[in-house]
Amino acid sequence: QVFRLEDYRASDYRIPELEMTFRLTAEETRVTARLQVERRADATPQTPLLLDGDGLVLEALEIDGAPAAPDAYEATPDSLKITRPPQRERFTLTIVTRLAPADNKALMGLYLSNGVYCTQCEAEGFRRITYFLDRPDILSVYRVRIEARREEAPLLLSNGNPVESGDLGEGWHYAVWHDPFPKPSYLFALVAGDLSAVRDRFVTASGRTVALAIYVEHGKEERAAYAMDALKRAMRWDEERFGREYDLNVFNIVAVSDFNMGAMENKGLNIFNDKYVLADPDTATDTDFANIEAIIAHEYFHNWTGNRITCRDWFQLCLKEGLTVFRDHEFSADQRSRPVKRIAEVRTLRAHQFPEDQGPLAHPVRPRRYREINNFYTATVYEKGSEVVRMIRTVLGEDAFRAGMDLYFDRHDGQAVTIEDFLACFEEASGKDLAQFALWYHQAGTPHLAVSTRHDAESGEFVMDIEQSVPPTPSEARKRLMHIPLAFGLVGPDGRDMTYQSAEGAEVEDGVIHLRKRRHSVRFTGVRARPVVSLNRGFSAPVTLSVEQPRSDRLFLARHDSDLFSRWEALNTLFTEAAIEAAARIRGGKAAEFEADLLSMPAEIAADESLEAAYRALALTLPGESDVAREMGTNIDPDAIAAARDALRTAIGRQGQATFAEIHAALQQHGRFSPDAESAGRRALRNVLLDYLAAAGGPELAARQFQAADNMTERAAALAVLAHQFPESEQTRAALAAFEARYRDNPLVLDKWFTVQATVPGQGTVDRVRALMAHPAFSLTNPNRVRALIGAFASFNQTGFHRADGEGYRFVADTVLAVEAHNPQVAARLAVSFRAWRSLEPGRREEARKALAAIAGQKQLSRDLRDIVERTLA
Ligand code: ARG
Ligand code: ZN
Repeated sequence: QVFRLEDYRASDYRIPELEMTFRLTAEETRVTARLQVERRADATPQTPLLLDGDGLVLEALEIDGAPAAPDAYEATPDSLKITRPPQRERFTLTIVTRLAPADNKALMGLYLSNGVYCTQCEAEGFRRITYFLDRPDILSVYRVRIEARREEAPLLLSNGNPVESGDLGEGWHYAVWHDPFPKPSYLFALVAGDLSAVRDRFVTASGRTVALAIYVEHGKEERAAYAMDALKRAMRWDEERFGREYDLNVFNIVAVSDFNMGAMENKGLNIFNDKYVLADPDTATDTDFANIEAIIAHEYFHNWTGNRITCRDWFQLCLKEGLTVFRDHEFSADQRSRPVKRIAEVRTLRAHQFPEDQGPLAHPVRPRRYREINNFYTATVYEKGSEVVRMIRTVLGEDAFRAGMDLYFDRHDGQAVTIEDFLACFEEASGKDLAQFALWYHQAGTPHLAVSTRHDAESGEFVMDIEQSVPPTPSEARKRLMHIPLAFGLVGPDGRDMTYQSAEGAEVEDGVIHLRKRRHSVRFTGVRARPVVSLNRGFSAPVTLSVEQPRSDRLFLARHDSDLFSRWEALNTLFTEAAIEAAARIRGGKAAEFEADLLSMPAEIAADESLEAAYRALALTLPGESDVAREMGTNIDPDAIAAARDALRTAIGRQGQATFAEIHAALQQHGRFSPDAESAGRRALRNVLLDYLAAAGGPELAARQFQAADNMTERAAALAVLAHQFPESEQTRAALAAFEARYRDNPLVLDKWFTVQATVPGQGTVDRVRALMAHPAFSLTNPNRVRALIGAFASFNQTGFHRADGEGYRFVADTVLAVEAHNPQVAARLAVSFRAWRSLEPGRREEARKALAAIAGQKQLSRDLRDIVERTLA
């Protein structure tokens, strides 16, 4: 079945109120749901009421308090049809269903995670709990009563505010929660279990006190401190930057160990993958701390962008996700370093969204069709969706953007709305027409800009010829021309931005060229010296760019561009081009060669104290093997790319060895660990340098750093250098064994140990990963474990996964099927790792196709997995 945007129809019925009672046991939970149903005034009274279900067992059904006659309804596991609804505008349905949380390994609906009852309802998990109009435009006020054995579940949580609780005798107790804000079913949540609370409070801008709690397993309380701190900062930030205040008396976060995604924004009761809550210096890296800060903020920000204002239907997913990612990006940029954050965002976008947009799974930020909505929680909806909101701000300017946001909050509070509603607010607030801009939501594919420039010293004229094109994608064969805001600078010989007298040929405003046509010839006057043009500053638009520019211009920008993003970009492009050239040489049987001026630049940057350490670390980070592959585009040989990248790393390491060693030593931290951005930046720089120093000088320094490290950031980085550069060395064997022994009882840390081994380059890793699946800490039913071992292998191990004989593909395909048997969502995600198969050289391409076809050929496949493999093969 295919769902289409144009088929949207409002429901004939509403469910303004809902009362639920859960009587919890692991094997037999009874759910009683009392729905206040309301027929819409314009609906015909005879219209049957069709409720969604998914694998449900109906135990009882009452209509207006009386048992339903057998011919009044039709029930299957997947739907409940009230064939003859009462001829009244309002009636009640009482539905009793029976669930077995202990058997729910799909981790959707109500399930048990490590003995804790918890729920995941987005997108369509609520229908695994009770029959309902399980769609986001049905907003209901919930009252939830939870009954459980006190010993098994002393803690009983749901959305909203706590109302009452008490004893039921015979070891049972109950609690009642009431959420005054009407919400869609996907935001429902329940948690019951034996957990510890970390408590704090927050006083809102208007002076209300909110009780905050983060619930974790006993003994892990201290590891929730950073998350709590991040939460309070996020709450304050949303008040200051967006004028958004929290609205309930309590805000609860629960960390669970079995979770399909990162976290979930259920109203007043966020549920998190514990990976994004738990952190301390001994067990978490700086990246973990940064992710926790970002995701805690993201889920909190959903309270306004997602919960108070929600989506009319799932086609509008980016309405809440793209916008909320934009908000969490801005939060992190304010909390940390803006340029560093921006570079990291662009790296992520290019690593995940670009390949999606340029491959078989490409879809618009707002898709028009889907078979399985869970497959659309994608980098396009999230990350590109965020870029589109960022461009709205660029196009409108900060003030009009904020006015548009204010209008959106004001006008649509309490509603389920669309992208059109969202855009209309910005059009009204700014007076600007966003019709062409809206194509960013409707057209898939990464736009490309081809740019060439001419300068005439005599007339002082500088001309930029810019041509846009959007490649065809499965969603649209022919593309319309887009409105692309291209930030730029004309960099003068002294490294400063030059001014000009006039610009014509396009609207040019505040350092941004607004491209709207296929070709623009932008003519600047009053430009005496030849400028070096710096384009897409700050990554103002998510496009690819080819600029006809001498290599010396790029080197110049890499040293002098005042826009730090573009300065990083110039160097990154030089590295990428060097790696591509070296890979071609290696494939032709020659040795890699690099330009001397490129090899000397890293030492210059490493020593440049005018740049933040975190920035220097990013500048020195070579493009990954998959980044290089993406830029090459077709006929990919991952072995040649890996060899080229290794050669480049070694060459840089040798050239900069003395400087790197000195800085690596000087950056050794003294005193107490702090996760703040500046300290993290120093560690990041130190770790990048270690990678080069090891490439040039062997494993000893990494082995020493591993032993001396008093924090996970330095320990894990040293372990990765050892395992990836010297997989067979004695030092590596010792370090892996020490790490395993030390963290034997900490699954989240062992995930790092699994990942570091799954990403050891080369042929042998498939067997190693297979062997690790038998490790006592590994489990196919825990998504974190699966991602750490199998997911990391398939996504990050270019030479292992893409083994020429196809063994990597066969292994991943087999594992996908093994996971699919109990968890279709996680299996479908894993299968996405095949998406770039067409860009491989012919031998690997055929092996990958066969592995995909083997999955597709299975008779019984979940909707999730069939959708992914069929689109990937199409
Ligand atoms: N709304 C959640 C987040 O962004 C993601 C939940 C996705 N879950 C799913 N099963 N598709 O913050
Ligand atoms: Zn989200």
